[in-house]
Amino acid sequence: MIFFPRKLRLALCRFLFLFPSVYFTFSPFFPGPEIGTNYGRYGSNLGGGSVIGINYGRYGSNLPPPESLPSLVNSLSIKHVKTFDMDPRITKSFANTGITLSLCIPNDKIPSLSTNLTEAESIIRNFVLPYHKNTIITSISVGNEVSLLPQFSTHLVSAMVNVHRAIKRYRLHKKIKVSTTHSLAILSRRFPPSTAIFHKSISESVLKPLIRFLQRTNSPLMVNVYPYLAYKQSFPSIPLDFALFQPMNSLKRRKYTDPYSGIAYTNLFDIMLDSVDSAVKSLGLPKIPVVVSEIGWPSIGDPGEVAANLENARVFNQRLIEHLRRGLSKVPVYIFALFDEDQKTGAAVEKHWGLLYGNGSRKFDLNISPPI
Ligand SMILES: *[C@@H]1O[C@H](CO)[C@@H](O)[C@H](O)[C@H]1NC(C)=O
Ligand SMILES: *[C@@H]1O[C@H](CO)[C@@H](O)[C@H](O)[C@H]1NC(C)=O
Repeated sequence: MIFFPRKLRLALCRFLFLFPSVYFTFSPFFPGPEIGTNYGRYGSNLGGGSVIGINYGRYGSNLPPPESLPSLVNSLSIKHVKTFDMDPRITKSFANTGITLSLCIPNDKIPSLSTNLTEAESIIRNFVLPYHKNTIITSISVGNEVSLLPQFSTHLVSAMVNVHRAIKRYRLHKKIKVSTTHSLAILSRRFPPSTAIFHKSISESVLKPLIRFLQRTNSPLMVNVYPYLAYKQSFPSIPLDFALFQPMNSLKRRKYTDPYSGIAYTNLFDIMLDSVDSAVKSLGLPKIPVVVSEIGWPSIGDPGEVAANLENARVFNQRLIEHLRRGLSKVPVYIFALFDEDQKTGAAVEKHWGLLYGNGSRKFDLNISPPI
């Protein structure tokens, strides 16, 4: 998870799911079609279908050196890594490992990239060209969660266009997709999912041209999807089990049926994904492949955040993997995150999203193999 600027956090809180619990029904035998509404999503250059990757954030005081990452990532049976920068040490460390890498251009480069093609070319020349033959680079995110920050968002699409041009100049555009990550705070209405829309302030000015660019370049829309935050912010209306993917064999499976689409959901993740699809549709644009650039569950929170615990973090991640493996949602996801990050500021919860402690040891057992 990113450092949400305080303002953005407040925005996020304001656009909670309004989840009257009356919408939920128990359905002991769960009759009718099993959800699976997200079929048709595919991962573009990530290979199609479900993919499980991991975010590599580095705000930890004692993290293992980049050179030891491939073996750590391999030990988790993960084959896809997303970083928040373009550090050559990291890019080099994944050479000849078969592990794919998603890179990120820092936010503060966006304004100059939007007008300076030469700068875009120099970034690609310096940070991609020397490494791409040995390291599989699949995508570059131009900034991280900037679409609601006007100082960046007004320059965002032009910056992406220039980065794409630079990549094309070096004939890498078929291999490396250009996108940018969004927080779900870009939605002003999320619920029911079929009625979701983007924020008025950015829908026509930023998101419409942005999604058109992605469609033109056959690149995915990247969104950070946090069922934990939606659960926390609308407590107690969303049942915890619904946020944690309910066990398949539970006799008490709940479902929520969207009153307009008639689609039945058994978990919050699918609702959040479909709300993104609906918002895209509301712009009059065709469906676009989505990549979940961040998703996870924290193992420790601030006092009162009881759902943030080790067992829930294990259960969420394990069931997410099973959900994707069963093909109910065909979408590439990058789990947040590889490590706990003790140097993150703000709420305690920010520091505890790792599958691994900062020192590289496992927090809980997770069964990912065989890798997808
Ligand atoms: C554009 O970027 C290049 C390479 O970083 C730099 O040398 C040049 O000064 C920039 N041009 C402008 C107008 O800022
Ligand atoms: C790693 O850190 C965790 C949490 O602080 C601790 O419980 C564990 O003992 C540490 N492992 C090693 C090998 O130092």
